[in-house]
Amino acid sequence: MAVNLKGRNFVSFKDFSTEEVWQSIKTAEELKLAHYRGDDRPLLAGKTLAMVFQKPSLRTRVSFESGMSRLGGHAIYLSPNDIKLGQRETTEDIAIVLSRYVDIIMARVFGHDIVVDLAKYSGCPVINGLSDLEHPCQVMADLLTIYEKKRRLEGINFVYIGDGNNMAHSLMYGGALTGMNVTICGPEGYEPNSDVLEESRKFAAQTGAKIEATSDLSQAASDADVIYTDVWASMGQEDEAAARKKIFMPYQVNANVMKLAKNDATVLHCLPAHYGEEIDYDTTRLPNSAVFDQAENRLHAQNAIMVLLAGKQ
Ligand code: CP
Ligand code: NVA
Repeated sequence: MAVNLKGRNFVSFKDFSTEEVWQSIKTAEELKLAHYRGDDRPLLAGKTLAMVFQKPSLRTRVSFESGMSRLGGHAIYLSPNDIKLGQRETTEDIAIVLSRYVDIIMARVFGHDIVVDLAKYSGCPVINGLSDLEHPCQVMADLLTIYEKKRRLEGINFVYIGDGNNMAHSLMYGGALTGMNVTICGPEGYEPNSDVLEESRKFAAQTGAKIEATSDLSQAASDADVIYTDVWASMGQEDEAAARKKIFMPYQVNANVMKLAKNDATVLHCLPAHYGEEIDYDTTRLPNSAVFDQAENRLHAQNAIMVLLAGKQ
């Protein structure tokens, strides 16, 4: 059954239901195939996307901008220096004014409350391009990638090794909504947010997924279908990088960890990677590594989300 997502926001991964997540994945597959056939359709013709950034980006900025241009729309990049979000005028006024000019706002911010406020006051859909709490667009691309590799999500043993950060949170919601078992494994003191854990377990109760948080790496990684990691110090935590490196080193994803997982375990990393820290270079180049498919899938997953929220179908 198709569901109508017109006018909706995508601020948290849990903004979408199981059905809406699947509709996004299926739409992304269609758009990806159409692109490979050389048949991109102008589903966002005449539409403008504002891209507001408080933090740096390669994938998010370029995939959204390229996605808009492939689907016939236009994207405006607003660097941290352009809008000076939080410094020059209120988030409320920014949301009201921007949404008088554009059809979609995508924002990469520090505090999650900023993207929540943008959505509250905007007259057009708002997409979270990463906040300190979540990275939902990355997880839509990740689910698409896992589905491409394994042809299912339900029952997949997904193991995230590292910091209980924005990636971990959106992955927990994503797994819970699609029936994928998610284990977040990292050092004590760096567990995921307990509210996100509790809430994702409530969603998981509907789909049969198991959502766990543990510091026991060998137990977590054994029988994994997917091994995922992310940087130990996220954007905004640069001052903690040296201290975190010492604490997280036992949790590096490398050949020893891959030996614990299933033979055909897929390796994922949202990138950018810090080789020699959370993952070694060789592991990202294994035949079962899908880190660059995952990066490409940002484009297709986000195109699907933009088309569903604001495009022609
Ligand atoms: N994965 C990701 O969001 O990459 P960027 O920070 O380069 O956008
Ligand atoms: N956790 C990382 C993700 C980068 C895509 C960060 O927030 O910097």
